[in-house]
Amino acid sequence: MGKDKLRKFRENLTFDCFVQPEFDEVFRRDHPLKGHWHDSFFRNDNPIVLELGCGKGEYTVALAERDPSRNYIGIDIKGARMWRGAKTATERGMRNVGFLRTRIEFINGLFGEGEVSEIWITFPDPQLKTRRAKKRLTSPLFLEYYARLLRADGTIHLKTDSKHLYAYTNEVIRRFGLPCAVSNPDIYGSGYADEVLSVKTAYEQLFLGMGLPITYTRFSLGGRREFPWFDWEEDEKSEKDNEAERGNR
Ligand SMILES: C[S@@+](CC[C@H](N)C(=O)[O-])C[C@H]1O[C@@H](n2cnc3c(N)ncnc32)[C@H](O)[C@@H]1O
Repeated sequence: MGKDKLRKFRENLTFDCFVQPEFDEVFRRDHPLKGHWHDSFFRNDNPIVLELGCGKGEYTVALAERDPSRNYIGIDIKGARMWRGAKTATERGMRNVGFLRTRIEFINGLFGEGEVSEIWITFPDPQLKTRRAKKRLTSPLFLEYYARLLRADGTIHLKTDSKHLYAYTNEVIRRFGLPCAVSNPDIYGSGYADEVLSVKTAYEQLFLGMGLPITYTRFSLGGRREFPWFDWEEDEKSEKDNEAERGNR
């Protein structure tokens, strides 16, 4: 492993905003912060917003700066990427930011029932292969995880360049009859992007450079808790996305 990565891993552990559970703290049991993020971590009652697969945490930091009346937590498994966001939040003395290094699959061991108000999913891996559909962060499997920690009126935001993931998510919304406030296939081309939506992540900048339209979907779970699996006919297509422009991801 590179020296720079090791340095970042070490420095992450010195940041007050950085939480890195041990594997056995989240595997088949609950983390001590579960249900206690308000009182033990943020020390306030403000709503909690998650950014899943946050990478360098651009949304976490930018939204937290714009809205000090909410708490923001960036979640990812890659510590060296998260270091960027955690370092910035530390240097700026931001008290409403946390970074949590974990696999998203363990999220129900980390947050209690209704502890989270909002979820942002920013440029997740689109998981184009049909056999990897369960790994899509808007698959029924993940929606069941979210339903267990999101408030009944909680919102989910998805920003992606992937046409396939955008269409898949819209199909999930349709099948389960979920309330959908926005489904926009090209937020910059249509002039829809406001100040918040115009925050650009590292991957977003890459995709914009390739000329790909950026899509945005905002929906909620409408109090629904169970999301039975379904196979989607469109998954059988071989060319699912703008794969040529996207290159190897
Ligand atoms: C394509 S990158 C996008 C990063 C960032 N949101 C951006 O737009 O620049 C996807 C991120 O999701 C993270 N990720 C993917 N699957 C994950 C999982 N199951 N648990 C935690 N992080 C995951 C990866 O480590 C990676 O940083």
